[in-house]
Amino acid sequence: MTDSFAQDVHKGLSAEHKFLPSKYFYDDNGSRLFKQIMDMPEYYLTNSEFEIISLQSKQIFKALEFSQPFNIVELGAGDGLKTFKFLEFLVQQDIKFNYVPVDISSEAMEMLTANLEKRLPGIVIKPKVGDYFKILSINKTSQYPSLLLFLGSNIGNYKQDKAKELLKLFNANMKKGDKLLVGFDLKKNPLTVHKAYFDSQGITKRFNLNLLLRINRELDADFQIDNFDFYCHYNPLSGDVRSYIVSLRAQQVHIKKIDKVFNFDYNELISTELSKKYSLEEIGALAKNADFKLKTNFLDCKHYFTDSLWEK
Ligand code: AVI
Repeated sequence: MTDSFAQDVHKGLSAEHKFLPSKYFYDDNGSRLFKQIMDMPEYYLTNSEFEIISLQSKQIFKALEFSQPFNIVELGAGDGLKTFKFLEFLVQQDIKFNYVPVDISSEAMEMLTANLEKRLPGIVIKPKVGDYFKILSINKTSQYPSLLLFLGSNIGNYKQDKAKELLKLFNANMKKGDKLLVGFDLKKNPLTVHKAYFDSQGITKRFNLNLLLRINRELDADFQIDNFDFYCHYNPLSGDVRSYIVSLRAQQVHIKKIDKVFNFDYNELISTELSKKYSLEEIGALAKNADFKLKTNFLDCKHYFTDSLWEK
């Protein structure tokens, strides 16, 4: 992991327009910060999706049209809080399933497993730590039908072509009749979106700057964190939230493991993240492009978010 991290950091900081991939936000420290983001009232995404799953579990289960038992494979499960209500519903109805949460943070997976075993005794849970593309291939050979979960607007962190590629890859690892539930953040009042990412407490800023601290920790670098700031903006036409780290002075940073010194200009940007917001039309087109049949869009009452159910 450290090797590809080093390679990607090298590549990103050597580019004409510097960038660092947002997938590296999530070391154990970053996962804790992301949990704090999800607890912020401005970060409406969590509550919106929580409402969908809490109030519409029954409808979601019915729409699956599955015989039992079936698999629930959750990609990027995190603390699993969103999914809890759905799992709880299934347990209460005595519906048989295997829950396979997948995440790159081992700490998050340990906490989730302990928490679920305590709150839902008897649940069959098979956590997997690692890159979910590798783990996904197991699904294809399962004797049971599967529901893949890709919630929390994780799809929004992929550029258009990568999102299409990823969804096709999901499709390739699914059996005919398997379902995919994808969480999309919807286009809405731009101010609402802006506040969710430019939060007043600066937690999103810490979340971004943790990436530099991670490079210090894992690649033996000397980023002076106070010399960097955070900026983001939302383009309501494209639906893109773009996040950046800003160099507050002309400076040099030595990354020992890469054996290189990087120069940063005054006000130079490092692109960190895309968080795309979608329209329902764009979601329909995306499903079609990856050869899925869109069955239902489950929306929250404010129409801020959708969990979109697709069938292979
Ligand atoms: C994980 N992902 C969907 C979050 C998002 O909204 O793009 C990550 C995040 N970045 C800043 N705040 C939250």
